[in-house]
Amino acid sequence: MARRKHRTALLDPPPSPPVRQGMLSPRRTVPASIARPEYALTGQPSTRAGRAVRTPDEIERMRVAGRIAAEVLIEVGKAVAPGVTTDELDRVGHEACIERGAYPSPLNYRGFPKSLCTSVNEVICHGIPDSRKLLDGDVVNVDVTAFIEGVHGDTNATFLVGDVDEASKDLIRATRQAMHAGIATVRPGSKVNDIGRAIEASVKGGTYGVVQEFIGHGIGDQFHTSLQIPHYYDPRHRTVIEEGMTFTIEPMITIGSPELYVWDDDWTAVTISGQRCAQFEHTLLVTSTGVEILTLPDGTPPAEELFAV
Ligand code: MF3
Ligand code: CO
Ligand code: CO
Repeated sequence: MARRKHRTALLDPPPSPPVRQGMLSPRRTVPASIARPEYALTGQPSTRAGRAVRTPDEIERMRVAGRIAAEVLIEVGKAVAPGVTTDELDRVGHEACIERGAYPSPLNYRGFPKSLCTSVNEVICHGIPDSRKLLDGDVVNVDVTAFIEGVHGDTNATFLVGDVDEASKDLIRATRQAMHAGIATVRPGSKVNDIGRAIEASVKGGTYGVVQEFIGHGIGDQFHTSLQIPHYYDPRHRTVIEEGMTFTIEPMITIGSPELYVWDDDWTAVTISGQRCAQFEHTLLVTSTGVEILTLPDGTPPAEELFAV
């Protein structure tokens, strides 16, 4: 018998029962005074190619959108607790956006029914807020995108619900570190695939997986531009990073295999293994010397630090 090269990883069973779909609340409304993105009525974003590099004026407006998204993420993070429904997190985020004059970008984006994404435990991304109550020991990723002054800011963080097991906390710490390892490569002249290479190097050695199906993206007047930012090393992604580009880095890291499937709601992506996933996201601007994180709040640390695990 041939000797196995790699030992099969023995993982503990996930610490909670599988997440199931709940009930959706009625659609939330946005006051007429708030400017809407192009897709708000039809659900269909335009397919124009979009530019990778922003004008100084766009950059100024993206600082505003980024700050607001970061503030809303903190407001939602404060509401995370056992017994709270993910729909309640959506309500808090929806109202926090509107109070700041911003449209919650997910609402009706490609038909998405809610104002932010809530991804619990083995849900990788794009979880739809519903009547499910958070349980003590859950982890929940909240992904906020705000549209204001014609541009989007996109940021997410993974939060603890009550008392969480050590393996999940380690996963969250590793994921946050991986995002920062990716961000640290960004400067004019670096390559898009340096980001994925650094993220993979940052998590390697453990039993973690890097999700491939969902990637970071260019962002500006469109929620997602054609610029693709994989979180794994792909030799084909040799695009050179230039000053003035704006894009997200948002690695999804799993315990065990990153293979996934999507629920029949056509949104909710979950691990096949049932093991947990964590994610962090920032919107970035490439500066003359390096990188600026656009999704930072004013005068307080960001959610990833305020709620650091
Ligand atoms: N905010 C997510 C991202 O990071 C996209 C959510 S799309 C939605 O790209 F329609 F689900 F909101
Ligand atoms: Co994003
Ligand atoms: Co996002």
